[in-house]
Amino acid sequence: MTFRTIIEPFRIKVVEPIRLNSPEERRRLIAAAGYNLFALHADDVLIDLLTDSGTSAMSAAQWGALMQGDESYAGARSWYRFEAAVRELMPFRHIIPTHQGRAAEAILFGLLGGPGKCIPSNTHFDTTRAHVEASGADAIDLLDGPGLDTRSRHPFKGNMDLARLERLLAERGADVPCVMSTVTNNAIGGQPVSLENLKATAALAHRHGKPFFIDGCRFAENAYFIKLREPGQAERPVPDIVRDMFAVADGMTMSAKKDAFANMGGWLAFNDDELAAAARNRLILTEGFPTYGGLAGRDLEAIAQGLVEIVDEHYLEYRLRTSAYISERLEALGVPVLQPSGGHAVFVDARAFLPHIPPLQYPGQALAVALYETGGVRACEIGTVMFGRRPDGSEAPAAMDLVRLALPRRVYTQSHADYLVEVFEQIVPRRSALRGYRIASAPPALRHFSARFAPL
Ligand SMILES: Cc1ncc(COP(=O)(O)O)c(C=O)c1O
Repeated sequence: MTFRTIIEPFRIKVVEPIRLNSPEERRRLIAAAGYNLFALHADDVLIDLLTDSGTSAMSAAQWGALMQGDESYAGARSWYRFEAAVRELMPFRHIIPTHQGRAAEAILFGLLGGPGKCIPSNTHFDTTRAHVEASGADAIDLLDGPGLDTRSRHPFKGNMDLARLERLLAERGADVPCVMSTVTNNAIGGQPVSLENLKATAALAHRHGKPFFIDGCRFAENAYFIKLREPGQAERPVPDIVRDMFAVADGMTMSAKKDAFANMGGWLAFNDDELAAAARNRLILTEGFPTYGGLAGRDLEAIAQGLVEIVDEHYLEYRLRTSAYISERLEALGVPVLQPSGGHAVFVDARAFLPHIPPLQYPGQALAVALYETGGVRACEIGTVMFGRRPDGSEAPAAMDLVRLALPRRVYTQSHADYLVEVFEQIVPRRSALRGYRIASAPPALRHFSARFAPL
């Protein structure tokens, strides 16, 4: 027997109250925060969709595992459990724990980046791009065509453009130290990458003698999309698909704050012995001894247990249904939403929703502020604020101006989703009254975290 409703596949054991404040109070608070949602006090947010990173609800089994944490400096039991859990899904020779994903990126690009180099990816996420560029290298996005078309319903909009990768490797091969793919492709809407595309990217990289790395933050969601959408994959268990994804790679970076249900953590993995040794040397300088990285033993336990739970297909079915449900309801209101819906988030096309606000006046920021002022919802601009500043300091519109409604894992219920839709219902009729912003002050890198804005 099947049911129409895909329920939250858990019951709630511990609750955390959230606070309702008034629209007047919210207008005052966001103005004081320089119209930057990152600068708000989290207690002043009703539904926090800023990020799915580190915001998961842990299971009873994870909380139990925390108590089993072995805090020995070297060779802790928790380290061996963590290493085995990672290797069960991602069979790399060397696994190197870090305190979060960007620490893995800092080590990787510290070793492989540098002036004159260029690193191609299906799309670099902001922290990845920042680390590539901080090393002096160029971060090059080679997204396949359908990914840039917000209306396209292509099943794998996160794919790498293989023809452009081939051209880059032919023309600038000597400058390319490695090829990367991000799964799912967060910067363009949490869109998946097909197994076929991962295999073809790896084959192309290898033909040119380049290692292929996967940024695996949302590997489980990507694998479930492969199961649902890729011919021949429907009957295969998710862990087998995951192993196939990583079998073609030479290494990976990972933020365990995403598809490992952990509130902190990450890792770097390699097959190459020399690269692994060099990475461990840097790790000791910046993160810690190689059997704990930047993590406590209890964190390693939570990640190990989280990796068992994240590949559960009931969870993944509910997870992808949640974003599809919100996306369908927003579309029904006439809100342009990136289709098909991504795994970890719903992405609203703010440029299409607010066509009267030009990209350099940040339509995504305008919508994100309106969501907070109207309903206490905190979302994240993924557009010209995040990606519009070039390394030379000049400014250009990003490929898209999106607002990401990121969905923390196992945290909110369907009534929270229904409330979110109602907030949009209130914004839709007065959208033409929304105004753009200018940046009043910003740091040179990752400016979206701390820029201050002024309304126009
Ligand atoms: C695709 C991707 N890569 C890397 C990172 C960086 O991970 P962390 O936030 O743990 O440093 C993120 C975080 O949002 C991400 O989404």
